[in-house]
Amino acid sequence: MGTLTNKRILLGVSGGIAAYKSADTVRRLREMGAEVRVIMTRGAGSFITPLTLQAVSGHPVYQQLLDTDAEAGMGHIELARWGDAVLVAPASANFLARLAQGRADDLLTAVCLATEAPVAVAPAMNRQMWNNAATKANLATLQKNGVRIFGPGEGSQACGEVGPGRMLEPADLAGRTSELFSTGVLDGLHVVLTAGPTWEAIDPVRGLTNRSTGKMGYALAAAAMEAGASVTLVSGPTSLPDPERVRTLRVESAQEMYDAVLAHVSSAEIFIAVAAVADYRPVTRASEKAKKSAERISLELVRNPDILASVAELKPAPYLVGFAAETEQLEQNARRKLEEKKIDLIAANRVGADLGFESDDNSLLLIGRHGVTTLTAQPKTRLARSLIQYIAERYHAERRDQNSRQAHRR
Ligand code: PMT
Repeated sequence: MGTLTNKRILLGVSGGIAAYKSADTVRRLREMGAEVRVIMTRGAGSFITPLTLQAVSGHPVYQQLLDTDAEAGMGHIELARWGDAVLVAPASANFLARLAQGRADDLLTAVCLATEAPVAVAPAMNRQMWNNAATKANLATLQKNGVRIFGPGEGSQACGEVGPGRMLEPADLAGRTSELFSTGVLDGLHVVLTAGPTWEAIDPVRGLTNRSTGKMGYALAAAAMEAGASVTLVSGPTSLPDPERVRTLRVESAQEMYDAVLAHVSSAEIFIAVAAVADYRPVTRASEKAKKSAERISLELVRNPDILASVAELKPAPYLVGFAAETEQLEQNARRKLEEKKIDLIAANRVGADLGFESDDNSLLLIGRHGVTTLTAQPKTRLARSLIQYIAERYHAERRDQNSRQAHRR
């Protein structure tokens, strides 16, 4: 079972007796780390109150499509963009029919149509309704359209009958929702990443650093883990918690980051350098706090080792991804770093007020031998999943090319 840390889940509740379990579903999703917002259909309100779901989710419950107040706040398109996944549980026979037809006559169906995120449904209905040919045809359509079907289970039903059609239990639904993010594209691979800033000490209390928070690198570490990799994250000083199931090594200076990376990267197939590493450090570090003295002082600096360029010199080198933070001439500057550091791919981001550093959102220009691709502005957590997918495709394509070249030579 995966995790739902940093995931935004939209829980749709349609009208059926199993809606009484929705409060528990919200709780289970949140226990796994998700932020949850609930959308109820009109029918759902007959089985559970919005107030209950508001209390357990910590957010107002969304019910109306054509409500000016709601649309002025988070309307159906914003909701559709907000969710990393949509889970409809319970999904009644009527809801499945409307979704299969592509209708958008209430908020929940409209959001399901408008989202780019994966949509999963947990059917819950009487066994005859489940076995009905119309329901079967609707499910086949939904599956063809990429909707995941969770369950249903078998057993005694609220109507007194026994058979298929019971909604899966909330804990099971939360587990399956987490698996929506487990792509497996990096199964069996070791990924090493750097993240955050470095701290170059001047004396015991002062140092040189930068505005990197580590958010981009930590999101990539989590996305690589979800994609099936074993992940080692070498992090400079940040206030972020260690990502789950990621071996996180905390370091301070560029030299310590270099040592930690070189100690672990030989077993890695992919190295991703996200850290904003200080290019220079003070030549000396005072052992006591320096006292204020002259009007003007100078600090002598010396170059730090280039971690990415050093890893690129290893034989064999892993697949190498660098980052470039630029305030101007994004593509030209990033391309120059790609060539100078002899790496496979560079992810360039514009930095400045509210961009790149510190912000929760980012956009990237990916430049490699095969061309240029843009990942548009979005939360770093989501951007990280797209970038990991992209890196996995490029890594596998290049390994295939290498293998066929070797086979050709033999
Ligand atoms: O941490 P956040 O607040 O989320 O911000 C994310 C970010 C803006 C820091 C990140 O997206 C980013 O752009 N990181 C690279 C920052 C940078 O300044 O790169 P650079 O141009 O100095 O270095 C180019 C590449 O070489 C980078 O991959 C860097 O990690 C690597 N490098 C640089 C110097 C050095 N001594 N060793 C290195 O490995």
